[in-house]
Amino acid sequence: MIVCIDGPAGAGKSTVARLLAQELGFEYLDTGAMYRAATLGALRHGVDWNQPEQLAQVVRGLQIHWANQRIYLDGQDVTDQIRSPELTALVHHVADNPQVRQWMVELQRRIGQGRNLVTEGRDQGTVVFPQAEVKFFLTASPEVRAQRRQEQLRQKGVEVPLEQILREQQQRDRRDSTRSVGPLVPAPDAIVINTDHMTVEQVVELLKQHIRSRTAPPSSA
Ligand code: DC
Repeated sequence: MIVCIDGPAGAGKSTVARLLAQELGFEYLDTGAMYRAATLGALRHGVDWNQPEQLAQVVRGLQIHWANQRIYLDGQDVTDQIRSPELTALVHHVADNPQVRQWMVELQRRIGQGRNLVTEGRDQGTVVFPQAEVKFFLTASPEVRAQRRQEQLRQKGVEVPLEQILREQQQRDRRDSTRSVGPLVPAPDAIVINTDHMTVEQVVELLKQHIRSRTAPPSSA
């Protein structure tokens, strides 16, 4: 069974997806980490970001491997490296490239084959697993998402003004929603949930309820 969780950055997808997978005994896939690892690989190969063909060719030659909630690039664990602000600012070159996306979709489908999986990203319910049994689209208001991001950064000892986070977030939202291939949109059959006033635990509980109701065998009464 495949459970898709899509939505914008800061809606709480990662934490919720990881916890949900754990509680269901499913595997968890972070597709954003795959795009980030591809970006790091391209960076290491010194690709010219203005040459989409070259970029796609380089990415195609990378070994991107996801195992036990860690992401490997050519055999090296890069899970922590891919979160840097420098890399985050470059991911759009990779995520906007239609050939790269096609390759990522193939990789993700292969990972999902025959598995019980909670997969998280932007296009999981729309493009990668349109036949998935349950699809969620998590949202939150821009202010709440920015506040959550600010708090995350604060815990890492980094202080960033809310206005700056909001500005960058807006830019990312625009890019994510307007890309020609795999844009950020809810699948027509996705359950849309606004997480503004919910704790992580409440969101996970709500998703579990939806999954139960979607997968419960019809009553024999
Ligand atoms: O969720 P994240 O911030 O780690 O994602 C990193 C980037 O990858 C972000 O710019 C959106 C993009 N992405 C995507 O285009 N499709 C996905 N399925 C997952 C992420």
